[in-house]
Amino acid sequence: SLVPVITIDGPTASGKGTLASTVAQALGYHTLDSGSLYRVTALAALNRGVDTTDGEAMAALARGLNLRFEGERLWLDGQDVSHELRREEVGSTASRISALGELRAALYAVQLAFRRAPGLVADGRDMGTVIFPDAPLKVFLTASPAMRAERRYKQLISKGISASIDELRADLEARDERDRNRLIAPLKPAQDALLLDNSAQTVQASTGIVLQWWAQRG
Ligand code: C5P
Repeated sequence: SLVPVITIDGPTASGKGTLASTVAQALGYHTLDSGSLYRVTALAALNRGVDTTDGEAMAALARGLNLRFEGERLWLDGQDVSHELRREEVGSTASRISALGELRAALYAVQLAFRRAPGLVADGRDMGTVIFPDAPLKVFLTASPAMRAERRYKQLISKGISASIDELRADLEARDERDRNRLIAPLKPAQDALLLDNSAQTVQASTGIVLQWWAQRG
């Protein structure tokens, strides 16, 4: 039978990555941070001077990327770029290129390949709607913009990257707007997704809820 998948979709900095990690750890499953694929494609384009508005060029670039995933770390051309991927310039470029249909199509097979036994927890924007529509559990994770801006701020500061909380909030709201309004794979809950608002929730509490949903899945 098919390898089980839990999808966690939601807006920027809603805590998807953290929740995906804790749930995967509890179940002994693999993880897919799909945003990192858009980010690493953005980084490669910036480094090589590829036109980030050219869908065909971006798709070709994505298909030729030399990537290696090691747990939560990502290597591009033999270099650990995990830290660089968090740069704001990389994130905003990733947000813009993610509207390109050719690029999304090129990354489709890459994402399916992460579905390996004993299971996968995949986080992003379209995991439940487009990439793994047959997933037995789909979570749509939200949190208030203020909370998300604060979390992203702390995340960046803890990595030694300076930031302004007001700019971060404006930027994440602009990204969400773009993700929700694009024509291809827009950010929205799958019809059968369960909604989880973690604004006032600890990571442990959210993890507990998802594990309970998983245990009770139909
Ligand atoms: O989640 P993260 O911020 O790392 O994603 C970077 C960008 O990639 C997002 O702003 C979003 O536009 C895009 N993305 C997407 N589909 C996904 C994951 C991320 O369009 N499944």
